[in-house]
Amino acid sequence: MLYKRISFDKFEDGNGDLVPIEFNEVSQQVPFDVKRLYFIKCNKGDLNRGYHAHRNLEQVIMCCNGSFILELDDGLGNVEEVYLNEINEAVHIQGVKWRILKEFSEDCLIAVLASQPYDVADYIREYDEFVAYVKDI
Ligand code: TYD
Repeated sequence: MLYKRISFDKFEDGNGDLVPIEFNEVSQQVPFDVKRLYFIKCNKGDLNRGYHAHRNLEQVIMCCNGSFILELDDGLGNVEEVYLNEINEAVHIQGVKWRILKEFSEDCLIAVLASQPYDVADYIREYDEFVAYVKDI
């Protein structure tokens, strides 16, 4: 698999669902030290995002609302898709993977936990460069 699934606890009562995530060594719910959290709100179903890889970044990606498909590619001929549509279901990405985010529902809200601060130099935005890079590591 090009990713690992994480299921966080979900507390459901008559008033809705609550998903707590603790960032500490004891709970180890997230497999790295979280340095950054960002959200993506994407309601244009015909648009895709991503089209890049990271040289040195781990991420946990979850869909807080609605749904979307995450496509991962290892540059070695393996491509996998994950459908995310549950507030407590996440995907852990490690290593250099090309990612495309697509097929967003109108109400889609994505949250991403990242292991490093934002660094524009960490991005590989050309697919050919990505394939050459993964063959080299
Ligand atoms: P980008 O990573 O290019 O998003 P996508 O690949 O999904 O289109 O980021 C879009 C913009 O947001 C870009 O101008 C940089 C900025 N950005 C930050 O400032 N900090 C961040 O942590 C991220 C992820 C993006």
